[in-house]
Amino acid sequence: MRLLLRFGAPLFAALAVLAALLTPLADHLIARWFQNDVEMRSRLVFSSVRDSLAALASKPSPREIKNLFERISEDERVLAVGWCNANGKLQVGSANWPKGLACPASLASDAPLFQAQEIAHGPVLSGIFPLAGGDGKQLGQLIILNDLSFIDRRSSTARLYLMGFLAVLSIVAAGVTVLMAQLTLRGWIRSVRQALNAPVGGYRPKLASDPQLAPMMGEIRQLLRDLDISRRTATGIRIDWSPETLRNVLDNELPGVEVLVLSNREPYIHNFNDAGQIVMQRPASGLVTALEPIMRACKGTWVAHGSGSADQETCDAQGHVAVPPGDPVYTLRRVWLTEEEQNGYYYGLSNEGLWPLCHITYVRPVFREPDWEQYVAVNRKFADAVVREAQRPDPLVLVQDYHFALAPRMIRERLPNATIITFWHIPWPNSEVFGICPWREAIINGLLGSSVIGFHTQLHCNNFIETADRFIECHIDREEATVSVGGHSSLVRPYPISIDWPPAAMVGQAPTQDCRKAVLARFDMPSDTLLAVGVERFDFTKGIPDRFRAVEILLERHPEWIGRFVLLQVAAPSRSKLPVYQEIQRETQGIASEINRKFGRGNYKPILLVAQHHEPEQVYELFRAANLCIVSSLHDGMNLVAKEFVAARDDEEGVLILSTFAGASRELMEALIVNPFDARVTADAIDHALRMPVEQQAERMHLMREMVSENNVYYWAGRMLLDASRIRKRERIESNIAKAGGAAV
Ligand code: G6P
Repeated sequence: MRLLLRFGAPLFAALAVLAALLTPLADHLIARWFQNDVEMRSRLVFSSVRDSLAALASKPSPREIKNLFERISEDERVLAVGWCNANGKLQVGSANWPKGLACPASLASDAPLFQAQEIAHGPVLSGIFPLAGGDGKQLGQLIILNDLSFIDRRSSTARLYLMGFLAVLSIVAAGVTVLMAQLTLRGWIRSVRQALNAPVGGYRPKLASDPQLAPMMGEIRQLLRDLDISRRTATGIRIDWSPETLRNVLDNELPGVEVLVLSNREPYIHNFNDAGQIVMQRPASGLVTALEPIMRACKGTWVAHGSGSADQETCDAQGHVAVPPGDPVYTLRRVWLTEEEQNGYYYGLSNEGLWPLCHITYVRPVFREPDWEQYVAVNRKFADAVVREAQRPDPLVLVQDYHFALAPRMIRERLPNATIITFWHIPWPNSEVFGICPWREAIINGLLGSSVIGFHTQLHCNNFIETADRFIECHIDREEATVSVGGHSSLVRPYPISIDWPPAAMVGQAPTQDCRKAVLARFDMPSDTLLAVGVERFDFTKGIPDRFRAVEILLERHPEWIGRFVLLQVAAPSRSKLPVYQEIQRETQGIASEINRKFGRGNYKPILLVAQHHEPEQVYELFRAANLCIVSSLHDGMNLVAKEFVAARDDEEGVLILSTFAGASRELMEALIVNPFDARVTADAIDHALRMPVEQQAERMHLMREMVSENNVYYWAGRMLLDASRIRKRERIESNIAKAGGAAV
């Protein structure tokens, strides 16, 4: 319709102007033609009656002349006929000779004369014919008055036909033009679409085969080249990723982009301590560890749950607080939740439902309808907050984790031009396992509102795609790794998360020997202690009891380590309101006491369990003091503790024991990889680590440090941002094409 208007309107206007110009000309021509016609008829009449009239006039017989005149005036074009004598007096006139109409002046020549004039009756044409007798004597003149009023009537009819003709012509012409334009545009759009959908670097149809398309092709090719470059930069070329590189990616690939992060856990928590003072805490969360340096580089706004007891006191009325404290570079926007919301959304659906569902540790997930209702409502609340924070219609929104499976679609509905990257920080199980979730379809659909869905490993991507395939109506392109629903595609890719390099927590760290001395002294251990560390939240996925059992087996099998080997286990209390978390704390403490009773001597305890939150600098000091670090997660998306241990060891000493069920084991292959369910294997690995020569430790540590320094968190974010930029450019081209296509419909 729009195309019809676009082509039709100018055509109608042009034809209207043409009609306005043509009408007077047509009127003039029509008048001329009819007047000539009338003149000709008058001459014919005159020549046919001339002789009989001359005969009647020479021997005057007015009655017969009158009869003759009446017969002539029966012609519909003839109004009246009259004979005027040589003195200009009417001798005989037909019955309808206009009253009072005077005879015209005598003609000077023999030639007839035609005069148009307006009389009371209307327009008339007087044909004046000189009349002579047989002897050549002048008898006056015959006047034939022709009625011209029919010319006006004919002219208006002709004008009407002309207008009608032009109108029909313009409709037909506009229709044909629109049809042709539509066909041509569709052909072009098809060519460009084929080009966009062709695999990058692979076959592309020859776009310029249509010569009419040639002028556009230069521009389209340039755009496609740009997209290729972005992708190559993301996957191919190895560069050193740093905050600087990330800022360059933002400036060059996403100029002026507005970055918004959405996560449940906030990066800075303000709490009141026992003395009523406000203290700031950085939470034990891999997600926060990874995202904080990114936000420092990107600036922007981070929307999260304000969970601290002093959070309200430290921000403005809108929940805004500039962070990091002391050196603010980005904004934290806190969202407040009621206890009921927190119980249903956070403790209930997120941590009793989705967390055990996605981690295969054989803890049964709990699904309650009211929890789900709160989860939906809270997702909407956070999505609203994101939309309210957005200053532009097309922000880049980074949605984090299983707390917000529904938010991507909710944000997409309100900000259709946003680029939404959702990162799922925990594993995604296979479709059979995920299928037990009563709200599986809604969760998958919610996530598919994202432009990109990221997981740590290819296996988790495959699992997600299989799950979508099994439970919802969607189109899957396995080569491009996209899942499409209702015309919207989500790219599903692995982005192994990582840490800041060099980590901020390394600033000001003492040499490793000094850290070792300080830590051993702090925990009252002899200087020759062989120290293993474990650092995590108190969570059933972390395999802490299994680790303790491995220590038990180690000391049983290798009593030579009794008195020398100590496992310092730091476990930050987490989600303690939930029975399963209370239970894991009780169980772990029980096992530690049991083993300590079994192998303890005097001051010596093989397991030192410190159930306390530690700030990153303290954790790094422990890592630097240790001989080995044990990460024995039963299932873990990535596990950043493993990478942090590697980052802390700039002396290239220390051994990492790592669970094969942590995503990190795909990258840190020089670690001693164990199956944490098999405590004997872990025990052997600890023994192996304790005996490993320093050179071998250095060799392994060197390779792992290289890996983490290259695949650092800036690389993780950079790859996602480059993919986002590619998608944004592609969407912009597609939307322009769609607009052109829309106009063609
Ligand atoms: C995991 C999750 C994060 C979460 C963190 C700490 O790493 O993937 O989203 O923040 O655990 O858990 P918490 O419940 O204390 O935020």
